[in-house]
Amino acid sequence: MGRGHLEPERIVRLELGAVVLLDQRRLPDEVVELRCGSAAEVADAIRTMAVRGAPAIGVAAAYGLALAAERGEDLERAYEVLAASRPTAVNLVWALDRMRDDPSPERARRLHQEEVERCRRMARHAAALFGPGTRALTHCNAGGLATGGYGSAVGALLAAWEDGLLAHVWVDETRPLLQGARLTAWELEAAGIPHAVIADAAAAHVMARGEVDCVVTGADRIAANGDTANKIGTYGLAVAAAHHGLPLYVVAPTSTLDPATPTGAGIPIEERDPAEVTSRFPARNPAFDVTPAALIAAIVTEEGVHRAPYESSLPWAVHA
Ligand code: MRU
Repeated sequence: MGRGHLEPERIVRLELGAVVLLDQRRLPDEVVELRCGSAAEVADAIRTMAVRGAPAIGVAAAYGLALAAERGEDLERAYEVLAASRPTAVNLVWALDRMRDDPSPERARRLHQEEVERCRRMARHAAALFGPGTRALTHCNAGGLATGGYGSAVGALLAAWEDGLLAHVWVDETRPLLQGARLTAWELEAAGIPHAVIADAAAAHVMARGEVDCVVTGADRIAANGDTANKIGTYGLAVAAAHHGLPLYVVAPTSTLDPATPTGAGIPIEERDPAEVTSRFPARNPAFDVTPAALIAAIVTEEGVHRAPYESSLPWAVHA
C-alpha cells in the first residue's frame, strides 16, 4: 500500500486463539496492540472503543465470532454479546449476520477484505465530487482505523489528494473522545495531506470566513429515507453547512444501510458514560446524532453517488 495507509491486518486481525487490534484509545501517543482471547473480550474492546468506527467494529465482531467458533464457545451467546456491545452502527449486526452460516476464519477475513475493497471503490466515486483546490472539513474519524483499512470519508480525501484536487482538510477535534484530533489528524499526517485541527465549535466560523468548500463524513447507520446517524456534532455541522450553502457528503459502504429502519427517528442512539464529558459535574453524553436526509447533498457508496430521494436512489438490492 502507498504512503500513510495502515495495512488492514495491522488494524484488526485474527490469530490463533486471539483477535488482535491496534488499540485506538492509545493513539497517536502509543502504537500498541490489544489481544482479545474470547468473544466477550472482543465485545469489551468494542464497548470501550479500543476498536471503533462502524465498519471496523463489524469486522472485529466477525473475527470475534470466528474466534468463538474456534474455541468452542456457545455461538448464540457469542453473537448476542458481540451484537450488544454498541447500539448505533448497523454494521455490527450486519457483519455478525453474515457470519451465522459460516463462522470460519476464512469467512471473517473475506468480509474484512470486502469492506476495504468497498472503501476503495466509494473513495473513487466520492473524489469525483471534488473540484480543484478543495478545502474539505471532516468530523470524527472515518479513516482506515474506522473501517479496517483505507477509510470511507478519509478514503475519499486520500483519493481526492491523489487526484490533485484536495488543498486542505479542516479536522474537527470531535469532543469528547477526540477521534478527529487523535486519529484523523494522525492518518492525514501519515498521508502527507495538509490539515489543521479545529475545536468543534470553530467549524461554523471557518465556514463563515469562506475557508470551507465541502463537509465530508462517514456514517454509522443510514435509514431507508436517507436520514443518517453519525458522530455527535455531525447534525450541527450539517445545519451550519446548509446555512453557508456548502454541500455535506456522506461516504459509507452499503453495510451501513438499514432498510429496516424507515427514518432517523428509529435509529438507536448510544448514550455513553457522562464521565467521558466531565467527571466533576452532571453531564449527558449522546455519542451520535441524526442528520436529516434533506441536509445531505449526496450519499456515496461503493456503487456510486446517490442523491435524494434516497428511498429509490440508494443501492438496497446490493445491501441485501
Ligand atoms: O464512536 P465512534 O468513534 O465509533 O464513531 C465513529 C463515527 O461516527 C464514524 O464517523 C463512523 O463510524 C463512520 S466510520 C467509517
